[in-house]
Amino acid sequence: MKTSSDPPHISVGSLVPPSEGGVAERLAAIVSGSTDAIVSNDLNNIITSWNHGAEHLLGYLSQEAIGKSLDFLVPLDRLQEENLIFQKALKGEWIGTYESDLISKNKQRIAISTTVSPIFDTNGNVIGTSRIARDISTQKKAQHELIIANQEKAKRAAELLIANEEKAKRVAELVIANKELLFQNEEKAKRAAELLIANEEKAKRVAELEIIHEKLQDSLMETIVLARELVELRDPYTARHEKYVGELARAIGEQLGFDADRQQGLRIAGYLHDIGKIIIPAEILSKPGKISAEEYALVKNHVKAGYNLLKQINFPWNISRPVLEHHERLDGGGYPNGLTGDQISMEGRILAVADVVEAMSAYRPYRPALGVEVALAEIERGRGSIYDEKVVDACLALFREKGYKINVEDH
Ligand SMILES: [Fe+2]
Ligand SMILES: [Fe+2]
Repeated sequence: MKTSSDPPHISVGSLVPPSEGGVAERLAAIVSGSTDAIVSNDLNNIITSWNHGAEHLLGYLSQEAIGKSLDFLVPLDRLQEENLIFQKALKGEWIGTYESDLISKNKQRIAISTTVSPIFDTNGNVIGTSRIARDISTQKKAQHELIIANQEKAKRAAELLIANEEKAKRVAELVIANKELLFQNEEKAKRAAELLIANEEKAKRVAELEIIHEKLQDSLMETIVLARELVELRDPYTARHEKYVGELARAIGEQLGFDADRQQGLRIAGYLHDIGKIIIPAEILSKPGKISAEEYALVKNHVKAGYNLLKQINFPWNISRPVLEHHERLDGGGYPNGLTGDQISMEGRILAVADVVEAMSAYRPYRPALGVEVALAEIERGRGSIYDEKVVDACLALFREKGYKINVEDH
């Protein structure tokens, strides 16, 4: 509610002044034609005037309104407030624009903006009040809709805020999850790199070991070749014989399905099988014609002599045993121990066959070369009785089916 310190002074005479002729008519015409509701009432709040604006705003004709208490237009919840304003106006106070409500004839509650002024008589006594009211229901409705719209907006903004907070929370969770994933991936990559380094180290060590192994193999072979060369210096025939026995023994091993390592063991056993002959005087070895029984006994000692030499060397293969056994025969007729059957190692049996075949094929100081066929006939004759039948079969297959040749040029 607004009040003014400088209220307009309205007297009843200015509304209906009988003594001033044309002015009164003009004023009455203004009041009557105003689109605002202009209503006046007496000291008992009884309506004394009711213009067209009031008829239009509230639906009552002037004859329906005049003579009734203004209270019949006021909603119950506004009565107390309106009564206070009325009392103030009766004391001569002008009540500036305030918002209130009135009830129309068709029971509609109409929002109004209104002012209330006291009416004075010519002596300055208050004789009633005058009210100007304007319909603001459209404005009110617009305001209300604006408030609702703003509330909706605020609600949506709040929802948006919550949604954004949810999104931000999810983004934060995603960031954390990604960081963890990144960390896990880094850990994995680190472990993979460590594994790679470890594997590289291992591969390096394996390569180094392979080089060492190759060097050892090379030096072993160099030592074996050196031993053969030493034999050759003194006894060229035996050196060549050992070489060919070694090659043939390896080929028999291959024919029997031995792996490369076992074949290599056979070759070296062959290369060294007669190394014990270094103890036999050169003149006996190179003696043309037949040797005496004493000389033959001496020759037979080469087996044990070779064994004793070779058993001191730590070969990757068992070399000394087949060397010791290369003159043994399945029927026990061989030397030095007269072993029979399975007592002789497979390598020993192979060396025996290779030794006989090479020796019979080649030239001997005491006889001419007999040729491979004679040698093969000899092992065929002793197959299963003197010589191992599988070894004999493998050897025969080499020569007769696979075209194997001992290096005949040297024979
Ligand atoms: Fe021998
Ligand atoms: Fe021999």
